[in-house]
Amino acid sequence: MTNDTIRSFRPDDLDAIKRLTVEAFGGVTLEQNVEAALGRLQGHDWRWRKARHLDEDVRANPAGIFVAEAQGAVVGYITTRVDREAGQGRIPNLAVDANSRGHGLGRRLIEQALDYFRREGLAYVMIETMAQNDVGQHLYPACGFTEVARQVHFARKL
Ligand SMILES: CC(C)(COP(=O)(O)OP(=O)(O)OC[C@H]1O[C@@H](n2cnc3c(N)ncnc32)[C@H](O)[C@@H]1OP(=O)(O)O)[C@@H](O)C(=O)NCCC(=O)NCCS
Repeated sequence: MTNDTIRSFRPDDLDAIKRLTVEAFGGVTLEQNVEAALGRLQGHDWRWRKARHLDEDVRANPAGIFVAEAQGAVVGYITTRVDREAGQGRIPNLAVDANSRGHGLGRRLIEQALDYFRREGLAYVMIETMAQNDVGQHLYPACGFTEVARQVHFARKL
């Protein structure tokens, strides 16, 4: 199943990538772990908070977002950040629709982002995944990334 195409983000993709985000990230997002520990916060659930990350990605670097499309539907995306001074690229968000997984699309989206970073003249790339995300922990080393650190997150109510 490879009759999908990867293209640049358009502003009218925003709703679709937010929808894909809240469907895809169940079980693998810090926002949901926070909700599991502290409950709903400020009247919002983890999906509301996670979807806002995409608003942030679009505000920060719309030219570095790539969208995978199949039969006219958005089935995946990757977002990026560029720090030219440090030579650093970063991949804050990546998702593929559950029905389209396991066919190499996630890897192709990462390759697309890496090509973009190379065109931008960057020196290195950072990506992170939750310890509970088995796919991320398999996929990123498979795409040439080396593990450099593990971080522990804490939260408390005020
Ligand atoms: C991560 C994600 C984008 C990958 O998309 P995908 O199109 O399935 O990716 P690919 O098909 O290119 O690669 C998936 C790899 O994970 C492997 N994999 C699948 N399930 C796995 C599991 N439970 N444990 C370990 N590896 C697994 C596949 O075998 C494949 O590796 P391979 O090519 O070496 O065989 C997709 O799973 C997703 O959207 N997940 C939810 C959101 C998410 O986790 N985003 C990343 C946050 S860090």
